[in-house]
Amino acid sequence: MSTPILNVTDLSKTFGGLKAVDALTFAVEQGETLGLIGPNGSGKTTVLNILTAAFPSDAGRVTFDGNEIAGMPAYRVCRAGIARTFQLVRPLKGMSVADNVLVGRIYGAAAEPIAPARKKVRELLDLVGLGGRAEMPVDALTYIDQKRVELARALAADPKLLLLDEWLAGLNPTELEAGITLVRSLKGRGLAIILVEHVMHAVRSLCDRCIVLTAGRCIAEGSPEAVLTNAEVKRAYLGDDGA
Ligand SMILES: Nc1ncnc2c1ncn2[C@@H]1O[C@H](COP(=O)(O)OP(=O)(O)O)[C@@H](O)[C@H]1O
Ligand SMILES: [Mg+2]
Repeated sequence: MSTPILNVTDLSKTFGGLKAVDALTFAVEQGETLGLIGPNGSGKTTVLNILTAAFPSDAGRVTFDGNEIAGMPAYRVCRAGIARTFQLVRPLKGMSVADNVLVGRIYGAAAEPIAPARKKVRELLDLVGLGGRAEMPVDALTYIDQKRVELARALAADPKLLLLDEWLAGLNPTELEAGITLVRSLKGRGLAIILVEHVMHAVRSLCDRCIVLTAGRCIAEGSPEAVLTNAEVKRAYLGDDGA
């Protein structure tokens, strides 16, 4: 494989006395989709929060595209090429669907005039299936459609690495297949993805490789099939939800 686009080394984060992330080391290759799986509370979202500089780690190093992330403000990390969606959607209420995505463009991508920015927004809304709803207030959308807005807003930053925090959760079977097809199309454009996901069908069909966390530590790494059939992983994770 090529040089990893992301290198995480001995990353740790403690909240109070609780070790949410505990000496975690992993890498993501260019264009790779890495599954980050594990039971609730195992530290997955915390890893994404550190990668996007929402808060600092206590220890460890993160290098992205050759640059150290520590100490960068969040908007710089975004402009360097890491964008995310949130597990609980965070629409900018009172604004239109298009303006929600435009904000992602202005905040996260290189400076450009407003006309091409709006054009890009329209393309992204088409891509995520919201083409006809650009001028609607974002609050009027269903939860699932607000998740589509989140994805378009993340993509508006032209990321090289996209972090999806349970983006496929809560979809009905038809929406899930459409969602998987959409994520696969992003993969096809060479985007690296970290997929935090409980939907095992999605993990199997999208991930090139997976790491499994419990209590902030990596207990298994390998192909989706290898980790999902690993005895320790089954005991720690899969046993309790039958996925
Ligand atoms: N901002 C925070 N403040 C205090 N505790 C937190 C915070 N974020 C996460 N935690 C705790 O860290 C642990 C890992 O949480 P999280 O990363 O959200 O897990 P996951 O995404 O795997 O469900 C949990 O015990 C959670 O309660
Ligand atoms: Mg989470």
